[in-house]
Amino acid sequence: MSEAGRPLDPALAQRIASAFLPKFPLGNRYDYYYVRAKLRTDPLYPGALAALRDTRAPVLDLGCGLGLLAHALRSDGQTQTYRGVDNDAAKIARAGRAAESCGLPDACFERMDLARETPEHRGSIAILDVLQYLDADAQGVALRNAAAMLSDDAVLVVRSAIADDSRRANTSRITDRLANWIGWMQFRPRSYPTLDGLRATLEGAGLRVETRPLYGDTPFNNWLIVARR
Ligand SMILES: C[S@@+](CC[C@H](N)C(=O)[O-])C[C@H]1O[C@@H](n2cnc3c(N)ncnc32)[C@H](O)[C@@H]1O
Repeated sequence: MSEAGRPLDPALAQRIASAFLPKFPLGNRYDYYYVRAKLRTDPLYPGALAALRDTRAPVLDLGCGLGLLAHALRSDGQTQTYRGVDNDAAKIARAGRAAESCGLPDACFERMDLARETPEHRGSIAILDVLQYLDADAQGVALRNAAAMLSDDAVLVVRSAIADDSRRANTSRITDRLANWIGWMQFRPRSYPTLDGLRATLEGAGLRVETRPLYGDTPFNNWLIVARR
């Protein structure tokens, strides 16, 4: 398997997760365990890092969650300015605290609902495991907006669960519903894009598009989409 098909090295996953430890011994360790497990099992970040590695342009992370991409970028020696936006105010606050606790340089976080607002940006854009939380129309708007923000020296990196008739797609749907049910995700998934639909939207916006599976050993139907001008 290529580097981009494997999760992060366990020692690195542990180091990044440590930024999410509570300040006090009896504090809540939920984020710490979640981050550690996620980074040890999901090839998402090595895939995104490989796509971003040769670019210097600022990175806008749409639906950034806890801001793990920022930690992964800095651990990889990538110094692009990073801005993460997400509509979950609590996650944004925790992302900011973790970044501050480990002195993550040039990273900022902001609450924003992508179904209602479009951030100003020029550079690279990451949309990682977010599209299914927007309805089909909002996905199209978000992708076309992202294409318009993309500078010539930058990349648009999307990872998404993809709708098809595979068992993996079904597992993705059930797990997203569960994540909402247990309260990890504030919102229920709304619509899963198809690969052909994503490609058509991005090519229609004038981008060159590459796609490949990015699920590693996980049971989900996650694909990586990298687009350039
Ligand atoms: C599965 S998480 C992925 C988080 C992050 N991109 C990552 O890869 O770790 C999906 C994120 O999308 C965010 N999200 C969902 N709908 C959104 C919206 N309308 N505007 C902004 N963020 C949204 C959620 O709050 C959540 O943090």
